[in-house]
Amino acid sequence: MRTIEIFDTTLRDGEQTAGVNLNTEEKIEIAKRLERLGVDVMEAGFPAASKGDLDAVKKVASIIKNSSVTGLARSNQSDIDHAWEALKESAEPRLHVFIATSPIHMTYKLKKTPDQVVEAAVDAVKYSKKKFPVVQWSAEDACRSDLVFLARIVEKVIDAGASIINIPDTVGFTNPEEYGKIFRYLLKNVPNIQKAVLSAHCHDDLGMAVANSLSAVENGANQIECTINGIGERAGNASLEEIAVALAIREDFYQAKTNLKLKEISRTSQLVSRLTGIAVPPNKAVVGKNAFAHESGIHQDGVLKEKSTYEIITPELVGVPSNQLVLGKHSGRHAFRDYLAKLGFQPEESKIKVLFEDFKLLADRKKEMTEEDIFALLIDHRIQP
Ligand code: KIV
Ligand code: ZN
Repeated sequence: MRTIEIFDTTLRDGEQTAGVNLNTEEKIEIAKRLERLGVDVMEAGFPAASKGDLDAVKKVASIIKNSSVTGLARSNQSDIDHAWEALKESAEPRLHVFIATSPIHMTYKLKKTPDQVVEAAVDAVKYSKKKFPVVQWSAEDACRSDLVFLARIVEKVIDAGASIINIPDTVGFTNPEEYGKIFRYLLKNVPNIQKAVLSAHCHDDLGMAVANSLSAVENGANQIECTINGIGERAGNASLEEIAVALAIREDFYQAKTNLKLKEISRTSQLVSRLTGIAVPPNKAVVGKNAFAHESGIHQDGVLKEKSTYEIITPELVGVPSNQLVLGKHSGRHAFRDYLAKLGFQPEESKIKVLFEDFKLLADRKKEMTEEDIFALLIDHRIQP
């Protein structure tokens, strides 16, 4: 059984969500929660981006002891110096340095030839290694890069001292088969690849960030980069909670585990949503309000008989107290009876039949039935507890 390292980037890539701006206190609060969750690495920010971000990364690095803290830098000495200033007091200073490797980015953004990009990447890693014991290198837009070039630059940066190689799907362009193939290719064609840990970093533009990350695990990645609630640039990053729970629930398939304390997931999700102001959609896997809610009669009946009929994840696993049987027009009599019992009412079967008929008439007109609606029905029918 392999252990997959979880690299959380909620405080860096997550903070790049349009409209999100976390101050130092908010970053510290989230960082402490991520530490309790058990992330192996947290990327606390981009120190060269602003003085505020440098100070926040510095504060987080001085407080967090049980997760490694890192910061992002472009491939230039000034960014690396800013990151060192922010991280030098952390338990294990670790840098995340990147450069783009796709023809589109090299031509239009960097205005460099591939050889110049290799040189800049190697120089940046060598310079970083003079200060940082651990250097992670990322090939921005790796999935639109030429594979032969990618293998060449990866070999060179490993020689220069990078010990973690990250393969970002920066624009969420790839799919699981293609992404897995990149990992297989690098493992086969980079002679010194065994000196490095391979890492996945996926964006969700086509809704495949989690599937792509899991494919990377199947194909040799030992680190996954992700964010709480999947927040991040544009459509966001791969969701930490979905990856963690998928690995745990399908341990039989992935043969991999993480160091995360899954029970902390729900509270962490709520904190990130509150402090970033980004609401979690109700149908979001694992952390959405409806993730453990059953509405239809057939499902409610099944769950009341045996939870595993319609629940592959127990709510308790991720720190949610219990599942919910939501009453609506699809609900069945079994769930209705159960709901009344929970409110302290156990009318005889003939009364339940009449009540249930009225309940269905009302449910047809309303989107969601509330506890007040049920009490009103009970009062109308003069049912006592
Ligand atoms: O998506 C991306 O390419 C990134 C890099 C900076 C790692 O976030
Ligand atoms: Zn990213």
